[in-house]
Amino acid sequence: MNDLLGKRVVLVTGKGGVGRSTLTAALSQVARRAGKRVLVAEVADGGDDYSALAQRFGLHQLPRAAAEIAPGIQGSQLLSDTGVELFLTSVLRMPILARTALGFEPLRRLFSAAPSLRELGTFFHLLTYLRAETAPGVPVHEVVLVDMPATGHTLALTGLPDVILRLVTRGPIADGLREGQSFLNNPARTSAYVVTLPETLPVTEALELLEGLEKNRVHQGGVFINRVPADGFTAEETAELTQFIQREKVFGAEGFLRIAESRKAVARLRASTRVPSLQLPELEQTGDALVEALASVLAAEPFRPGVP
Ligand SMILES: Nc1ncnc2c1ncn2[C@@H]1O[C@H](COP(=O)(O)OP(=O)(O)OP(=O)(O)O)[C@@H](O)[C@H]1O
Ligand SMILES: [Mg+2]
Repeated sequence: MNDLLGKRVVLVTGKGGVGRSTLTAALSQVARRAGKRVLVAEVADGGDDYSALAQRFGLHQLPRAAAEIAPGIQGSQLLSDTGVELFLTSVLRMPILARTALGFEPLRRLFSAAPSLRELGTFFHLLTYLRAETAPGVPVHEVVLVDMPATGHTLALTGLPDVILRLVTRGPIADGLREGQSFLNNPARTSAYVVTLPETLPVTEALELLEGLEKNRVHQGGVFINRVPADGFTAEETAELTQFIQREKVFGAEGFLRIAESRKAVARLRASTRVPSLQLPELEQTGDALVEALASVLAAEPFRPGVP
C-alpha cells in the first residue's frame, strides 16, 4: 500500500464488473487517511450515464473539472473534449481561438470519428491534472487514482503515446505525449493495478492485461483478487466433502465448489506472474459500507509477492 500511495498516478484496471470502481473509491479513502491530496478520476464520454464511482460519493456523476467530492478528496471525469480544448488553449494560448476551433464542425466530426483522437483528448485531460502545481514541485493532486475503462480501452489508452509518436515526432502534440510518457511510463510515478475475480476467465483476462501493460511499458503494481469466498475448511474436510458431493446431491454444493474454483484460480494467477497480488474477501456489505470495509482490509493487508 505504501508503494501504491507513493505514486502520482494509480491506474485501476480490469475486466468489466470485477469491482474497479468500488476499489478506486476504497483506495481514495486509504490515500486520504494517509494524508495525501487525492484526485479520483474516471474516463468518461461526456454523456449523462450513471457512474457507480460517483455514487460512492453521493453523486450521479463526477464533476467535469476537479472539485471536492468528499472531505479531502477531489474528483473529476476525464473527458476527451475537455482535454482537446485544454490542449488547443495551451498551444494557441488563447481560449477563444481554442473554442472557435472546436466549434468547427469538420474538426468535431474528425475528433469523434477517430478513436485515437478521442483517447488523445482523455490523455491530455489527465496530463493537465498531473502538471498542476501550487508552487514549483508541489503538485495540486499528489495521487491521481484513475478508474480505467475495461481492458481493451485501457490498453488503447496506455499504448497511445507510442502509436502517435511513431507518426508525429515533433510539435506540441509530440511534446505533450512525451511529457505524458514521463509520467505513465515511469515506474516511480505510475503503476497500474489489475482487479480480477478468482475465476477462470477473469484470471485469463487479467493475465492478458498484465501482458498488454508490460508491452505498453506501464509498470504493473499488483493484482487485486477481489471477492474471494471465505474458506473455512481444512484440507481434510475439503477432500472428504469433495468426494461426498460427487456421490450425493447436497444443498450448498455450488458454494462449496466455488471455493475450490477460487483456490485454483488464485494458484494459477500466482504461478503465472511475478506481479504481487492481494486477495480481497467477498463481503456482505453493499454501497458505502462495502467501500469502508474494503478500505480497512486494504489498509491492513500487505501484498504477497508473485512466484515465478
Ligand atoms: N469485495 C466485494 N464483495 C462483495 N461485493 C463486491 C465486492 N467488490 C465489488 N462488489 C460488488 O460488485 C459489483 C461491481 O462492482 P463495481 O461497480 O465496482 O465494478 P466495476 O469493475 O467498476 O464494474 P463496471 O465494469 O460496470 O464499471 C457492485 O455491485 C459491487 O457492490
Ligand atoms: Mg466501474
